[in-house]
Amino acid sequence: MRTSLPAPSLHTARLRLRAFEDADANDLFALHSSGYVLRYWDTPPWSERARAEKFITACRQMAQEGTGARLAVDRASDGAFLGWCSLSKWNPDYRSASLGYCYGDAAWGHGYATEAAGALLRWAFDTLDLNRVQAETDTRNVASARVLEKLGFVREGTLREDCVVNGDVSDSWVYGLIRREWEPPSEPVPAR
Ligand SMILES: CC(C)(COP(=O)(O)OP(=O)(O)OC[C@H]1O[C@@H](n2cnc3c(N)ncnc32)[C@H](O)[C@@H]1OP(=O)(O)O)[C@@H](O)C(=O)NCCC(=O)NCCS
Repeated sequence: MRTSLPAPSLHTARLRLRAFEDADANDLFALHSSGYVLRYWDTPPWSERARAEKFITACRQMAQEGTGARLAVDRASDGAFLGWCSLSKWNPDYRSASLGYCYGDAAWGHGYATEAAGALLRWAFDTLDLNRVQAETDTRNVASARVLEKLGFVREGTLREDCVVNGDVSDSWVYGLIRREWEPPSEPVPAR
């Protein structure tokens, strides 16, 4: 029987990771309605704001059902909403989970995705007794692959013709990070 898993509040040198609130719906909708941001995403951009409300409800459901944590990421210096990262599909029997993330293009290129994921992974390895974290990315999504490699993930294989993104059949890479290979980041993760 699963127990609930309250969403943690995590701090890094430059970021605040926290539970989603109703007030995030506008920022979330702006993020997920961008075709540019989601050009390698496995589902189309949102066209209705109600999708943002459903997403926030789903985050709370994850916490209640104890299946993972999907956290909003704010910049510490000005409180700006940057995006989110998640640890989902937690399987306590296999001691495994999946990593995901999405940030607005204004936030790209500063090391934020890597910094936030490092904090979430540190929490997950410390608290959930994980052994393996998996992530998948479109093979064209070089930035996402680079984030995973900076975190220590190993590219394990290719899922051929895994998704259809904007009408294009695309391959995905599968990445895995095993507990014994995990090296917690020294803070702060430097901006480039
Ligand atoms: C992928 C994503 C999370 C990266 O966020 P970010 O905050 O820019 O990531 P970071 O700054 O931590 O690292 C990005 C790395 O990719 C590199 N990079 C970015 N674009 C690149 C490109 N076109 N070619 C080669 N490297 C690239 C950067 O130089 C950086 O590596 P470095 O630190 O060695 O220089 C962000 O672009 C995003 O949210 N995209 C939309 C949603 C998405 O695709 N999510 C992932 C789904 S699997």
